[in-house]
Amino acid sequence: MTTEPLSLAKYLASSRTEFTLSEMNLYLSQKHEEKDLYAILKPHLYDLSLFCDANYRCQKLINRPLLADETIIRELENLFKSPRLPAPIEKLVESYIENSCGKDWHRGGTAQVIRENIVKQKEEYWKGKSQYPKIRMISYLLYHFPVYFCQFQYLLLDLFKCGLLTTRMSFLDAGAGPGTITLSTLDFLDKLQGIYSRKNIDVKMNIRIDSIEKEQENIDCYRELTSLYLSKMALLNTNITLNEPVHAPVEKAKTRKDVDFIIFSNVLAELRSPPPERAGVVERIASTSKNPAVIIIEPADLVNSKALRITQNALVKKGFNIFSPCTLIWGLGCSCSDCWSFYEPGNIQVPGFMRKIAGTREPYRYLNTDMKFSFAILKKDGKTKYSYEAKGKFVRLANLEKHIGKRINIVASVMSGNLGDEKTFVFKLCDATTSKPCYAVLPAFHITEQNKLLLKAGYGSIVEIFNTLVRENKEFSSYNLLITRNTTVMPLQ
Ligand SMILES: C[S@@+](CC[C@H](N)C(=O)[O-])C[C@H]1O[C@@H](n2cnc3c(N)ncnc32)[C@H](O)[C@@H]1O
Repeated sequence: MTTEPLSLAKYLASSRTEFTLSEMNLYLSQKHEEKDLYAILKPHLYDLSLFCDANYRCQKLINRPLLADETIIRELENLFKSPRLPAPIEKLVESYIENSCGKDWHRGGTAQVIRENIVKQKEEYWKGKSQYPKIRMISYLLYHFPVYFCQFQYLLLDLFKCGLLTTRMSFLDAGAGPGTITLSTLDFLDKLQGIYSRKNIDVKMNIRIDSIEKEQENIDCYRELTSLYLSKMALLNTNITLNEPVHAPVEKAKTRKDVDFIIFSNVLAELRSPPPERAGVVERIASTSKNPAVIIIEPADLVNSKALRITQNALVKKGFNIFSPCTLIWGLGCSCSDCWSFYEPGNIQVPGFMRKIAGTREPYRYLNTDMKFSFAILKKDGKTKYSYEAKGKFVRLANLEKHIGKRINIVASVMSGNLGDEKTFVFKLCDATTSKPCYAVLPAFHITEQNKLLLKAGYGSIVEIFNTLVRENKEFSSYNLLITRNTTVMPLQ
């Protein structure tokens, strides 16, 4: 019964730019109501590259970069100035907790059990052996979910600004847990559609989301949260195909064809394999897609962050290139085997449910608002966020040893936020030529018009630094590049 309408839709999609569902009845042996035809076609709209509106008028959707002019970017950035879990998501998560643990989940014995689990999960997480029985999913939602949800949108914002987000996109949420990445993506696209609609810009999108998860209980939570969210979204201009989660370990899961974005958010550290071998798991999942962007996110702590870079370098050896955050400034591969670098977009507002469980006794143990994470975005087409190749007038960071005590010019990416304080600003620098850590050190009393832009340089952005004084920090086996009144800092973007 469904094959005839589907084959006809395939034919119409390939031969016309537009048609209505009622028109299809002219050619079908058995007549259908428009809404029934829509229900038959809905799971296939993404594959057919079709967008069907509320009046059942379907048009062929051309895949093109999402419109990202300056005013749209500014509006979107404004939304991220005070990051928080959106109210509908907060409500959804709280209802889920309430349905699972009862109305009084934040009081008495139930709250005590949840609190103990939050603490236990944190401890286990750092040891890389988290487990997710139902109560653990509740503590995950209460403690980790809000920050992970919000931080992913900064990566989406960046991809949007770089023109990588398009009108037809497919995502694979690998190790999906409760659906953090899926929900974050849906909310981001909803925010963007809100901006387009306020500006009377008609942008139609066709989105497919797949997921892989090994724990049944997490899949149950994923299903419930994502389907409830979708049922409440006003999807006027976005067609969403949300496929059933694949219940399998990522090491063995059947791979999906032609995925545009494959996201491993806080997952690789949980795999049994050591960091270089995790690259094989990622590569297998990506192998059936033409040119996916692989996004790997890990916590910012020393062990997980360094492990991510090892996996990243192993993926480069397998033919991936780094889109961001690293730039190979001298056009050579990264020679660093010991890199600790993370992005810190700031703090989110405390969600109501987190405040409830925090209670009044040692609330800080249950409050988690600090967005701080390590990430890598990898591609296969050679595209990089910044295209820059240094020429001879700069000293490579690998050669600093020869210049200790001298003033030199260097060019490097800024690979941290301020690691110092308000009296002395310290930023990690990297040009991909050395494993020895290098820092730009700017004492507040040396800030001038010529060097102050260092303070504004975004994570991963490239700066040329002229006339900086090289100092060796023997205790920490690192170099400090002193930025003084006579130093000029020129951001390149
Ligand atoms: C820390 S949670 C991250 C969830 C979500 N991606 C996020 O960022 O919030 C890790 C998730 O990965 C899942 N996971 C761990 N190892 C896995 C594997 N080998 N295959 C599939 N899923 C896995 C866990 O069950 C859990 O749901």
